[in-house]
Amino acid sequence: MRARIAVLPGDGIGPEVTREAVLCLRAVAEAFRHEFEFATWPIGISALGASGTPLPDETLDACLTADAVLLGAVGGGQDDRFPDALRPEAGLLALRKELHVYANLRPVALPDALLSSSPLKAKVVRGTDLVIVRELAGGLYFGEPRGVSETRAFNTLVYTSDEVERVARVAFDLARSRRRKVTSVDKENVLETSRLWRRVVTEVGRSYPDVSLEHLHVDAAAMALVTRPTTFDVVLTENLFGDILSDEAAVLAGSLGMLPSASLGGLTDLYEPVHGSAPDIAGRGLANPVGAIASAALLLRHSFALDTEARLLERAIAETLADGFGTPDLVGARHRVGTAGLGDEVRRRIGELAGGESLVPAIVLREAHA
Ligand code: NAD
Ligand code: IPM
Ligand code: MN
Repeated sequence: MRARIAVLPGDGIGPEVTREAVLCLRAVAEAFRHEFEFATWPIGISALGASGTPLPDETLDACLTADAVLLGAVGGGQDDRFPDALRPEAGLLALRKELHVYANLRPVALPDALLSSSPLKAKVVRGTDLVIVRELAGGLYFGEPRGVSETRAFNTLVYTSDEVERVARVAFDLARSRRRKVTSVDKENVLETSRLWRRVVTEVGRSYPDVSLEHLHVDAAAMALVTRPTTFDVVLTENLFGDILSDEAAVLAGSLGMLPSASLGGLTDLYEPVHGSAPDIAGRGLANPVGAIASAALLLRHSFALDTEARLLERAIAETLADGFGTPDLVGARHRVGTAGLGDEVRRRIGELAGGESLVPAIVLREAHA
């Protein structure tokens, strides 16, 4: 197939990890004879210098007309150089809003090879395989009015039933392709928005009788995620809770650098690792590119319906990790490599998997033995 991908590397480690993801997509395209056209556009601090805005019109137009968007990260850490409206993060939020992406999927899985990279006990985390479905277009992030004066500041937490319903449907549909369990996370003992959330999710759940539904308060969910992570399948929650819980869930996957995400439901869908620009390690070739590369796999699956290609890329990542390769954040890795070194290992395996018999699906092998 032919497809156009808008690439927004952004700031800090964004360009370092995005480069590896693009090279992996090129390797997949070559192996399967697809034609992917990549065009790079500025966002965040890298855009502010040249255009005075963190999301230039040209970047937004390019994203709106592309088939998918691959983003690195924005931001310079704690930074008071920019007025609120021109913060690099405001550029990312404006992009999500303008693309109308509302369902942010954040899969969290721990391959056995990384058991020793998680600070949690192996018996607690072994087998973790969950997806956080984070509402991305509403809640505290976008509620109006909002404001700040010298001595007072406020934000508005608002959700409509339509906003809750559409993201809930994404979570229930996803659960049907997995272990058929949705855990909805809210704070209904305190917040009106959460009481609406719980009521609407329960109603949506009635049309999915084959999917079990449980509700948890966010404080209890924060604990359960690290004490009984394997009991979760699909975790559905609002924008801010999802942001916080996904960084917490990163300890289940061995490192924040491992987590990919797909932001779906938009005019164009957006793929980005969960982590930020990591100013503390930027420019040193230390960043873990797995979250970015795995985001590219989600792009192949969700925007291009290239499931075989997506699975091959995911398998190349899994084999790289199983063979003991890892960046320094993966403390249990036997072969320590840098950002590009890890990308190279993944690409080598893409070549091997695509070139050899391993492209034959496992199902055929099973038939041969039946
Ligand atoms: P961060 O995710 O950038 O970093 C948190 C910690 O995780 C740091 O110690 C960092 O070194 C480590 N880390 C993150 N990604 C890593 C990777 N790929 N490999 C190895 N280690 C990694 O969060 P922060 O420090 O709170 O934020 C820094 C800046 O990034 C801020 O400006 C923030 O707003 C921005 N941010 C952007 C995004 C995004 O663009 N999607 C997401 C989160 C934070
Ligand atoms: C994320 C980030 C962003 C968010 C910031 C940078 C605006 O933390 O994607 O998780 O809070 O959504
Ligand atoms: Mn976050």
